[in-house]
Amino acid sequence: MKLLLTNIQQLLQTRENPPQKVSGTEMNQLPSINNAWVLIEDGIISDYGEMKNIPNVEGFKPIDCAGKIVMPAWCDSHTHIVYAGNREQEFVDRIKGLSYQEIAKKGGGIVNSAKKLQETSEKELYKQSAKRLEEVMKLGTAAIEIKSGYGLTTETEAKMLRVAKKLEKNYPVTVKTTFLGAHAVPTEYKEKKTEYIDLICNEMLPKVAKEGLADYVDVFCEDGYFSVAETERILKEAQKYKLTPKIHVNQFNAIGGIAAGVKYNALSVDHLEVLTDEDIEALKGSETMPVALPSCSYFLSIPYTPGRELIDAGLPLALATDYNPGSTPSGNMNFVVSTACIKMRLTPEEAINAATINGAYAMGISDTHGSITKGKVASLIITKAVPSYGYLPYSFGSNLIDSVIIKGELV
Ligand code: NIG
Ligand code: FE
Repeated sequence: MKLLLTNIQQLLQTRENPPQKVSGTEMNQLPSINNAWVLIEDGIISDYGEMKNIPNVEGFKPIDCAGKIVMPAWCDSHTHIVYAGNREQEFVDRIKGLSYQEIAKKGGGIVNSAKKLQETSEKELYKQSAKRLEEVMKLGTAAIEIKSGYGLTTETEAKMLRVAKKLEKNYPVTVKTTFLGAHAVPTEYKEKKTEYIDLICNEMLPKVAKEGLADYVDVFCEDGYFSVAETERILKEAQKYKLTPKIHVNQFNAIGGIAAGVKYNALSVDHLEVLTDEDIEALKGSETMPVALPSCSYFLSIPYTPGRELIDAGLPLALATDYNPGSTPSGNMNFVVSTACIKMRLTPEEAINAATINGAYAMGISDTHGSITKGKVASLIITKAVPSYGYLPYSFGSNLIDSVIIKGELV
């Protein structure tokens, strides 16, 4: 389909020579064009400009965007959308006073989801996951990273990744997959964690690599889960298979995982709700993207990632949902962007950069996604008529999306 979007009130994130990522004060710059048009051909942004210079083109379906904003679709660089069932009961337990960690100690948490997933057929798992993907596509997400980590056996971890790959095949969304065998220690290995790590290194990683199931490797580096030394062992092993790390760190405790991630050239370090000066120093001068997950903080009532501090230190920041059954049963990037402004004191410009170009970087796709650039993939959000782009995070909870275009097709 060939599309011509016209009379766009404001076209956001227009970058002729797009950077891979934006950092520090650059994050507050959001280049845009008022009263603009965009031409889409074969799924690609073929041109854009001001209405006064609109070319005389034929054979395009015109879409009038008067009063509306057009921007790159969200790049959600951290999700766990392939899961079975839900953890509604733990939600109630937390309301009654138990903490996330206390629930996990009682046998709830990740191992609870693993039990459900192991009992669910691949077909049913696909069906449940596809429903979530369709939901987030309508909310403006056109690129998504999907992790394993609720299988915790060689076969069920592979099953999760096959489901993610099938989603990639059947939907226009750009998908990157991450192997997260080290998400938790399965119940049967409780007293022999080293043996589980042996299994990850000797059986899971080789299978995932051989079958081409993952782009990245992840570890939940946290007290009670995997230590820094254990994380390093897994990242080192994953290097053999050219699996770049994207790791869960500093969610509840700062134990030195960020420096370990940087040491292994992690593409991203995610969560960072608890951050020390040493962690910030470790990130400086690295190519590793810090990723904040504000809906997780919201849902678990834990601190928000000090995003203001990271940006003020000259660092980049990306925003993602963390959509999963335990800590964030929501995949709404619009809510994430609002919450980053409201709770982390990001400006609308910073939050939009964090959820587009920097999100793209955190999943290794900033060459093709995250900005309005000639030749990039035409995955765009068209908003309803709004006074300005700042209105989007301001009016949190409202659905201001009129339509979503993914790879040149209207969703
Ligand atoms: O990113 N923290 C580790 N993993 C997920 C939550 C997993 C779960 O509770 O099911 C997260 O928050
Ligand atoms: Fe996560």
